Amino acid sequence: MAKKKRDRIKDLLADQPRDGILVQGWVRTRRDSKGGFSFIEVNDGSCLKNIQIIADHKLDSLKDWDKLLTTGSCVSVHGNLVASEGKGQSVEVQAASIEVHGSADPEHYPLQKKFHSLEYLREISHLRPRTNTIGAVMRVRNRLAYSIHRFFNDRGFVYLHTPIITTSDCEGAGEMFQVTTLDMADPPKNDGRVDYNEDFFGKKTSLTVSGQLEAEIYAMALSLVYTFGPTFRAENSNTSRHLAEFWMIEPEMAFYDLDDNMELAQEFIQFLFKDVLEHCTGDLEFFNQRVDKHLLETLNQVVSHDFERLPYSEAIHLLEKTSEKFEYSVEWGCNLQAEHERHLAEKVFKKPVIIYNYPETIKPFYMKLNEDGETVRAMDVLLPRLGEIIGGSQREDDFDTLMKRIKQKELDPEEYNWYLDLRKYGSAPHSGFGLGFERLVQFTTGVENIRDAIPFPRTPKHAGF
Ligand code: 4AD
Ligand code: MG
Repeated sequence: MAKKKRDRIKDLLADQPRDGILVQGWVRTRRDSKGGFSFIEVNDGSCLKNIQIIADHKLDSLKDWDKLLTTGSCVSVHGNLVASEGKGQSVEVQAASIEVHGSADPEHYPLQKKFHSLEYLREISHLRPRTNTIGAVMRVRNRLAYSIHRFFNDRGFVYLHTPIITTSDCEGAGEMFQVTTLDMADPPKNDGRVDYNEDFFGKKTSLTVSGQLEAEIYAMALSLVYTFGPTFRAENSNTSRHLAEFWMIEPEMAFYDLDDNMELAQEFIQFLFKDVLEHCTGDLEFFNQRVDKHLLETLNQVVSHDFERLPYSEAIHLLEKTSEKFEYSVEWGCNLQAEHERHLAEKVFKKPVIIYNYPETIKPFYMKLNEDGETVRAMDVLLPRLGEIIGGSQREDDFDTLMKRIKQKELDPEEYNWYLDLRKYGSAPHSGFGLGFERLVQFTTGVENIRDAIPFPRTPKHAGF
């Protein structure tokens, strides 16, 4: 017999009554009636909502219904979709047979209650996808990923896969995870130092912090490229917006200057929010009710206003003269902290802000030096509540200036031969930026902690289940 096709709950809830349907999913709750039947709420992950199943205890397949049909158990339900007389749903399923694939012992299954804290759920990361919140986050995350590819492909960008294992520290912050097959207890040595000639690649290698440098290579041939892949940072920051493993989207564009770059960043973010507002309505309404009462209002505001553009020097000026008390003091030349970024976006402008032309001293070697010799063509996009979501720049395309910057930052020009070559042969003005995918998911769903925006968060001291 041909295998019966499964009906998705999302489709059934929008369907007309009809016979011969198959629901497959996990039981969320069961309510027993005195009349010899149970109401079972089943969810299959296709949407936030459950479908109600009416299960007659007399069904042959339900001999031990009270023991088998427990919260968390997995079922296949054959039956008919009928108009519901109850409140809360227009259709429900009259079961003809129910097969329990795996029951879940109520004494031990951890997800019995209606509500669990997100902190607790992180301790059971193998079961947390079965909750409303994490299920909805992952559907929104999926839609965002899909529309990111659409955005770039519609504009002629080529999706580029940059390597995960690398020998260069793009951001120069020394926050890299080393990759090695050497015996840590007894590594080969030469003159008292570890001899990486003996290592797998014959060189010291690490997990990448960014695909940008490699993306630049391809932008110098294909003009418009973007990466979308995992990146790794061994920064020991236990904050609600840092992960050790996160995904980044990095477009790189030949012939774009800093203004073009800012324009694209705004268009990109607005496109993504418009798209989720249109396609993830059920999940976003849930977040708006349960997680952040201002979520929809905030998202709608971001899509309907131009982002403010503010030179770094003016940002410092504004921060210096405000009466707001900060933990970190501000002066020209300092790095902006999250508290400063949020103040500007939330309180001063009440919308996204792009800060540009940062001091050369606090930014990486690859950013284009301005005529003033003091600032570089950097830009950070700051969102209310979150702070930095995008970091980018116009790249230094002049060979001599780049060489000078590499030496200034005490990097080894030999290691950047290939990068310098791009300025030697057919150099072009170009720009790009990186958007942190989990920060985007965090902002779109309103979840407070970035650890709830990724299926399996990696943070200091947390890498397993
Ligand atoms: O500002 P960043 O460090 O910029 C770069 O890596 C450039 N190479 C990008 C480019 O120009 N192609 O990182 C870019 C973004 C940040 O704005 C932030 O959203 C995110 O990546 N990010 C993190 N997200 C989660 N956890 C971390 N530890 C992050 N570090 C950066
Ligand atoms: Mg940054």
